[in-house]
Parts: sequence; C-alpha cells; structure tokens
Amino acid sequence: MTEPGPSTLHARYPEHLRQRVDDYLGGLWFGASDEREVAEAAGTEGLAEAMRYSLLAGGKRIRPVLALATAEALGREPDEIMPSAAAIELVHTYSLIHDDLPAMDDDDLRRGMPTCHVVHGEDVAILAGDALFAEAVRLVCEEQGGGPGVQVGVLRELSRATGVTGMVGGQYLDLKGAGAGGAEALAAMHALKTGRLMAVSVHVALVLAPPPPDDDAVYRAFARELGLLFQIVDDILDVAGSEEELGKAVGADERMGKVTYTSLHGMDRARELAAESHARAMALLGRLPGPVDDLAAIADTAFARQS
Ligand code: IPE
Ligand code: IPE
Ligand code: MG
Ligand code: MG
Ligand code: MG
Repeated sequence: MTEPGPSTLHARYPEHLRQRVDDYLGGLWFGASDEREVAEAAGTEGLAEAMRYSLLAGGKRIRPVLALATAEALGREPDEIMPSAAAIELVHTYSLIHDDLPAMDDDDLRRGMPTCHVVHGEDVAILAGDALFAEAVRLVCEEQGGGPGVQVGVLRELSRATGVTGMVGGQYLDLKGAGAGGAEALAAMHALKTGRLMAVSVHVALVLAPPPPDDDAVYRAFARELGLLFQIVDDILDVAGSEEELGKAVGADERMGKVTYTSLHGMDRARELAAESHARAMALLGRLPGPVDDLAAIADTAFARQS
C-alpha cells in the first residue's frame, strides 16, 4: 500500500491535523447507532466493509484538514468542525469510488490499493458510494455541534457542493467532454468537479464561526482558488507524476481522451497557470487576520505535492 508520506507532500503540511482526521475516521462505524438499527442492519456488514475499505485506505485528507485549519484561523478549536470535516471526506471518498468505476474512468488502483469495485464488485462499489453520501449527512445531523442552525447550514453547503451545482455536475461535464469547449469551459468544469468539494471545506468552518463580511469574501475567494489549483496539479501529475507516489494510475486522462490542463494548454503553460493560481491563493491569505500558517501550508501542498 502506498501511503503518501511527508516526502511526497509539502514539508509544512499540517500532519498533526491529518492525524486527528485519521483517528476520527478510523473510529466511525457505519450502519447502526442504536439497538433497533443493529437488527435492521443485519447482513449489511459487507457493505460497511467496502465503505471502510476505501475510506481508510489512506489519502492526503486535504479537505478535512482544510476545514480544521480554517476553523483554527477563525479562532476556534479545530475539533469543533470535525464531524463536518469528516463528512466531506466521506463524500470525497464516494466520489472517488464512483469516479473509478468502469462506466466512468475505469481505474484499478486508488490510494495505493486495488479500487473498490475490483475488490468488492461493481454492484457493491456503487452502493458503498451511495451509502457514504447518506452517512455523511447523518454524521452532520448526529455529531456536529453548534445546534440546528449550524447543522442545516453545513448540510446546505455540503449538498450544494455535491449535487448538480457541484461535484456530480462537474463529473457529468467531464464525462460529456465539456472541457473541449476551451480554456474557460475547462476551468468551469474543474471548479465544479473538484473545486466545490475543496471549497466547501472552508465554507463549513465559515458556517460554524462566521467572520466579518470582508473576511468571509476573502476566505471564499481563497477556497475557490485552492480548488482550481488542486485540479490543475492533479492534471499535471497524471502526466508527470509517478504511480507509486500517487497511489493511482498515471496516464489515465490520455487513455480516456480527457481534456485537461496539460492536454489543452501544454505542460509548460499548465505549470505556469498552477504557479499563478498558487500566488493568487497566497495573496488572498495575506489579507486575512487569523493565524493562517496551516492554510498557507495546505496551499503550498496543493501546489508542490507529488502525491
Ligand atoms: C483526487 O483527490 C481526486 C481529485 C479531486 C483530483 P485527492 O488527490 O485529494 O485524493 P486522496 O484523497 O488524497 O486520495
Ligand atoms: C475526479 O477527477 C474528481 C472527482 C472524483 C470528483 P479525476 O478523475 O481527475 O480524479 P483522479 O485523477 O481519478 O483522482
Ligand atoms: Mg474522473
Ligand atoms: Mg479519475
Ligand atoms: Mg485526475
């Protein structure tokens, strides 16, 4: 199994936050939270096993770490946002399971391990993704503190970032080759398929601890930029990265005829665009009052990562 380690992430990546996220995710038990449900869930252990297989396979945890670091920058204890942060990682994992299916990108390797459908079958992999989304919603409802206002606010952000105006809409555009429409269409597709689930990690912390409107706008602009940067680098690594470090196949985009930052702009220009995006993200952080060191380290990681 290929765990992305410090050598393939930026040296400043907040590993202490990643550790907290991993500990929390490792403690999640899907399916039953009371006695009645235990009976109802009888026989579904294989489904929960498939969910945990993909969720606990490693991964950088950059989305939940981003949520924790944003809470920190807003003067809160990072753990206060943990259930919502974990919920985003559940949705992200579901998106990866479905992204790898034969009907989509048809990939066999993810997080250094055979993909969910290779191990558990295509039928179970589809259900594991479906159930991860539902369990994400349940986690926010049952575990997120701050009262119903915060819970509904988080669910609103999470559902918007996941649905037609979010990751799923972006995946649809990807499959329909919308990126071929040119640079703007490609950036718009990236903003949905990857940008929205990245940005929502910042948004959930803004729901928990709303800053003054000027700062709120800067946080949101930073979140958007980071999402774009992350997918530009993902496209670059699909060409220039190593399978061992990434834990997933390289060359998959070309094999599937995908329009990406490298296929549309060329490698050199794609690298320049990533550098420009990183610089914009850092400039936005410079306008925020809070302790933004961990957020800066996450932006550096999104740019410089090899995994
Ligand atoms: C991969 O996401 C899919 C994209 C949205 C580009 P990550 O690169 O965050 O994958 P993990 O979670 O570390 O495995
Ligand atoms: C997928 O983008 C983004 C989502 C899973 C929503 P990619 O298809 O480029 O992700 P990888 O490269 O397989 O991780
Ligand atoms: Mg894809
Ligand atoms: Mg893919
Ligand atoms: Mg990719």
